Amino acid sequence: MKGIILGIESSCDDTSAAVIEDGFLLANKIANQQVHREFGGVVPELASRAHQQNIIPVVESALYEAGKKPGDIDAIAYTRGPGLMGALLVGSSFAKGLSLALDVPLIDVNHLQAHILSVFLRRKDEEKAMPQFPFLCLLVSGGHTQLVIMKDHLSMEIIGQTIDDAAGEAFDKCAKIMGLPYPGGPLIDKLAAEGNPNAYNFARAALKGLDFSFSGLKTSFLYFLRDRVREDEHFTEHHKADLCASVQHAIIDSLTRKLVKAARETGISEIAIAGGVSANSGLRNAVYKLGKQKNWQVYIPEISYATDNAAMIAITGYFKFLEGSFSSQHVTPVARFDQLD
Ligand code: KG4
Ligand code: ZN
Repeated sequence: MKGIILGIESSCDDTSAAVIEDGFLLANKIANQQVHREFGGVVPELASRAHQQNIIPVVESALYEAGKKPGDIDAIAYTRGPGLMGALLVGSSFAKGLSLALDVPLIDVNHLQAHILSVFLRRKDEEKAMPQFPFLCLLVSGGHTQLVIMKDHLSMEIIGQTIDDAAGEAFDKCAKIMGLPYPGGPLIDKLAAEGNPNAYNFARAALKGLDFSFSGLKTSFLYFLRDRVREDEHFTEHHKADLCASVQHAIIDSLTRKLVKAARETGISEIAIAGGVSANSGLRNAVYKLGKQKNWQVYIPEISYATDNAAMIAITGYFKFLEGSFSSQHVTPVARFDQLD
């Protein structure tokens, strides 16, 4: 079915708009918010204000790049949650207003489902292998870490999740302990490239089943550094690369162990990873390597579609559009995953 979908994402600190035509991505524009850097984390009130400033220019720029006018849009997809309530309200209110003005349907999108469906993003004429259903996805973002079986585009079953911190949070908190700015994940990734992943051994949780836990790793990292810095105040500075490589190794090891277990238990060999942490080069390499060893078909989104973006919202909107799954003006944003229906 033909359709032009405008996607809008505003769940955290990226304001983004994208245009999908008949399942192909035409434009994906992202305005990153720099205002949070000096605070060491996202400040919700500042995020909402920045979304208000960015949303119109970002939507205009996505439509311009796609070569489309507002009147060409067939439906508007927006992130309903999970995310920061004030931030979600900006995107959802804008989407609702535009849908009334243009008289086109609205589609509410689950941000986490959208991360997973980012593996279906492609531009026109782009040859790309797509996962077959059912596929297994390791979803690793700043707020969530889940193992999900995708039965079709819109049907997901969660078979494992973190009982405390998310993988992205573990990266960011360990980075903060080392004095690195927010978000620390990409910086750890970069510094780890120069370090020895076996220099230090940090605690891994030994949870039964398919759940994850990262708070023990964070605490062991904190205490280890506290003790070393007591002996040598320049310890962190002098061993940053090895610290980054070792902590990254511990996080990847915890993630891939459960992924292997889930693949074995479900018998699924179509494997995807998605979410901001799937941009991590160590995790990408580890999953590709496992794919070769275990005979998996591996699907990983391009780095620009791994972290928050509206292209994933628009492609999810497109799949819902094909099913006629529209949403009313009365649907309100929700902050938590378990509040989504
Ligand atoms: O999916 P995402 O953009 O936002 C949420 O939905 O949470 O994920 C953001 C998370 C942050 O914790 C960030 O540090 C992490 O993804 N991240 C990375 C990398 N790029 C982003 N973590 C490790 N290595 C990276 N290259
Ligand atoms: Zn996200």
